[in-house]
Amino acid sequence: MEEAKKGLENIIALETSISSIDGVKGVLKYRGILVNDLLDMPYDAVSYLLIRGKLPDKNELAAYSALLKERRPAGENVLNVLRTCNFNIEAMDALRTAISYMSHCDPDLSDNSEEANLRKAANLVAKFPTIIAAFSRIAIGKEPVPPNPALSHGANFLYMLRGSKPTELEAEIMEKDFILSAEHELNASSFASRITASTLSDLYSAIITGICTLKGPLHGGARMAVMDMIDEIAVPEDSEAYVLEKMANNEKIMGFGHRVYLTQDPRTGIFKKLAKELAESRGNMKWYETGENIENAIFKVFTEKTHKPIYPNVDFYSGIVYKYLDIPPRLATAVFAIGRISGWIAHCMEQYSDNRVIRPRAKYVKAGQPPENEPLLSPKKKIVV
Ligand SMILES: CC(C)(COP(=O)(O)OP(=O)(O)OC[C@H]1O[C@@H](n2cnc3c(N)ncnc32)[C@H](O)[C@@H]1OP(=O)(O)O)[C@@H](O)C(=O)NCCC(=O)NCCS
Repeated sequence: MEEAKKGLENIIALETSISSIDGVKGVLKYRGILVNDLLDMPYDAVSYLLIRGKLPDKNELAAYSALLKERRPAGENVLNVLRTCNFNIEAMDALRTAISYMSHCDPDLSDNSEEANLRKAANLVAKFPTIIAAFSRIAIGKEPVPPNPALSHGANFLYMLRGSKPTELEAEIMEKDFILSAEHELNASSFASRITASTLSDLYSAIITGICTLKGPLHGGARMAVMDMIDEIAVPEDSEAYVLEKMANNEKIMGFGHRVYLTQDPRTGIFKKLAKELAESRGNMKWYETGENIENAIFKVFTEKTHKPIYPNVDFYSGIVYKYLDIPPRLATAVFAIGRISGWIAHCMEQYSDNRVIRPRAKYVKAGQPPENEPLLSPKKKIVV
C-alpha cells in the first residue's frame, strides 16, 4: 500500500469545470474567467455563472435576480428558530441550525434532480444573507429588518444588518467580497460538501457539511480570528512586536499561509485595495495600517527565519474590510458563507451530475497504547446536556 499523504497535499481527487487555481503564478479563474474580470458584475451574475456554468445574458440575469429577490424573506418559522438560538454562539452555528430547519419544510428534500436542486439553490443563495442579518439583530434584542427588493445582494445584506441603507461604496465592496469569496476549487468545505453529495444525500445536508467545515479556524474561521487580532493590536506600531511574540510561542498568525499558492493569493491584493478605499472614505487608517504592518513584519520575520516568504491569504484583508463595514467578528465566517454558497452548490451539482461515491483508503498503523490507569473520559470532559 502507498504511503498516506498527510492533509491530501497535492492529491488530485477529482476533475472540475467550476474553477481553477495556478498556485505558482497566483491566478484564479471561475469557469475559465479570471476572477478579476468578474468584479464589476453583480454577485447574482457570478452566482449564475458558477451554478449554471455560463454567464447569464441580460434577460437571464434579470430573471435570476428577480427570483433571488422573491426568495429573500426567511419566513416567520425560520426567524422563530433563530429566536431560540443561544445568543453567545457564532452566526455560523445559527446558520447551520436555520438551514437544517429549512430542509424540514422542503417537500422535495430528498429529490436530487437538477430541477429540484436549482430551486433549492435559489432559496439557499437568497436566504443566507437574510438569516445571518436576522440572527445578528435578534441576538442584540432588535427585530429583523425585512429584505429590500430594490437593493442588490450586497447592499440588501448591509441594509438588513444595520436597518439603514449602506453608502454606494460600501454596497459595491460587499458585492465584490461575495464574488471573491464565492469559489476556490477543492477547498476543505467544498470537498466536504461533495463527499456528502457523493453519497446521494440531499443538497441541504451537503451544504450543512460545507457550513460546518468552513467554520474551522484553519479555513473560513480565520476571518473572524483576523478581526479579533486587529482589535487586540491596539495601535499599528505594536504589530511587529505582536508578530514576534506569536512566532516565539510557535503560534500561527491567522490570515497567513496557503496550501496551494506559492505566491500572493490573487484575491489578497484586491481585498487590500478595497480595505484602503474604505479606510480613506471613513478617514480612519488605523486598522488598514495595522494590517500592513503585520504583513510587512511577517514577511520579514519569515524570510529571515525560513528563507521562504509567507503571504496574507484571502481572510486577512477581507477581515479588515469587514471591520470597516461594521460587521461584528462573530458574523465574519457566516458573511464569507454568503459568497461561498454558490460555489458549494456548483460543486454539489457537478458531483450529482457524474457521481461516484468518494471513498478513499487509509493505511492501518498500530495505535500507541494509552498509559495505564488513564480513564477513557476524564471527568472534566463529560458532556452536560
Ligand atoms: C492555510 C494553512 C491551513 C495551510 O496549511 P498547510 O498547507 O497544512 O501548511 P502548514 O500548516 O503545514 O504550514 C507550513 C509551515 O508554515 C508555517 N505556517 C503556515 N501558516 C502559518 C501562519 N499563518 N503563521 C505562522 N506560521 C505558519 C507552519 O507552522 C509550518 O511550519 P513548519 O514547516 O516549520 O512546521 C496554514 O497556512 C494556516 O494554518 N494558516 C492560518 C489559518 C488561515 O489563515 N487559514 C485560512 C486559509 S485560506
